[in-house]
Amino acid sequence: MIIKKLVFSGVQPSGNLHLGNYLGALKNFVELQKSADCIYCVVDLHAITTFQEPKKLRNNILETTASFIAAGLDPKKSIIFNQSAVSGHAELAWILNCVSRIGWLNRMTQFKDKVGSDKEKASVGLYIYPNLMAADILLYKATHVPVGADQKQHLELSRDIALKFNKDFNCPDFFPLPEPLIPKNISRVMSLRDGTKKMSKSEESDYSRINLKDSADEIKKKIKKAKSDSAPIPDNLSSLEKKPEAFNLLNIFSELSSINLDKLINEMSGKEYSAVKNDLADLLISQICPVGKEIEKLMGDETYLLKILKNGAEKAQLKAEENLKKIREKVGLI
Ligand code: AMP
Ligand code: TRP
Repeated sequence: MIIKKLVFSGVQPSGNLHLGNYLGALKNFVELQKSADCIYCVVDLHAITTFQEPKKLRNNILETTASFIAAGLDPKKSIIFNQSAVSGHAELAWILNCVSRIGWLNRMTQFKDKVGSDKEKASVGLYIYPNLMAADILLYKATHVPVGADQKQHLELSRDIALKFNKDFNCPDFFPLPEPLIPKNISRVMSLRDGTKKMSKSEESDYSRINLKDSADEIKKKIKKAKSDSAPIPDNLSSLEKKPEAFNLLNIFSELSSINLDKLINEMSGKEYSAVKNDLADLLISQICPVGKEIEKLMGDETYLLKILKNGAEKAQLKAEENLKKIREKVGLI
């Protein structure tokens, strides 16, 4: 059976998007528009698994939409919408809650990392969040899912859920098994303060990340303050990898400059990190600041952003309803 490539991915509207979202996800989203049908979703139902102040949430949904467009997504080519506008996501999530197993969810490391020792107080939504993610993807029978490395385990769960559904309801090829598309070189951008933690919106210190909306001055300051190493840049990758913060800086440099990491190490070995930091800040300013400025500009035109979401939701709704009809039939619902 030939299955047409269909791309789906989602980003949570939980505040400032950062360099990790940009290099791990958005850049890839934009590239994929050239070769495939793509659906990109602002996953607001995922965001409310932890409490969101309603006014802020509304603003963050619009800002994430603006970030999609500012990064280069084209609403004429791709379907762009917010998850809660298509009720099929919640409906299929319920059906998949009944397919997915508690044992599978208990293995999800992101849930464990997020709740720490306070599991009893976490929302039920946060626990079953990966089932909703599976519903997002399977609702459209998406075949490819561009994400950062942190989402790999959730994607594997989506595949397990698809497989079990196909087996339970005796329809072997019904849901395609979604393939993760994880960037090869920089799948995980790390915090500028601690190279063992991923760059994240929820990290307390703003110095740990480069936000898409940061000014040139903020970027310069953050890169200057970023942890590196007191020894000069080594001449081989395995020594560099032992210094996670330094490795992260060069990895970002390599990605933004399109210079292969080995070649970069060759060119830079023996130099102090301070010398590299100036060039890295310049690269970030030239590639990130234009995106940030475009986000600010788009945020001034709420009507335009709402129109993109409405048009996108209408297109997504048609596809979702067509698939849901078949899903309900398979399950035996009337
Ligand atoms: P989120 O903001 O958690 O909804 O993530 C949106 C997308 O950005 C997902 O595909 C994540 O895997 C990706 N992402 C988030 N943080 C990072 C990071 N530090 N490095 C690489 N990708 C990331
Ligand atoms: N869980 C993803 C994250 O936090 C966001 C997400 C929700 C997603 N649904 C998705 C990503 C479907 C890819 C496909 O980054």
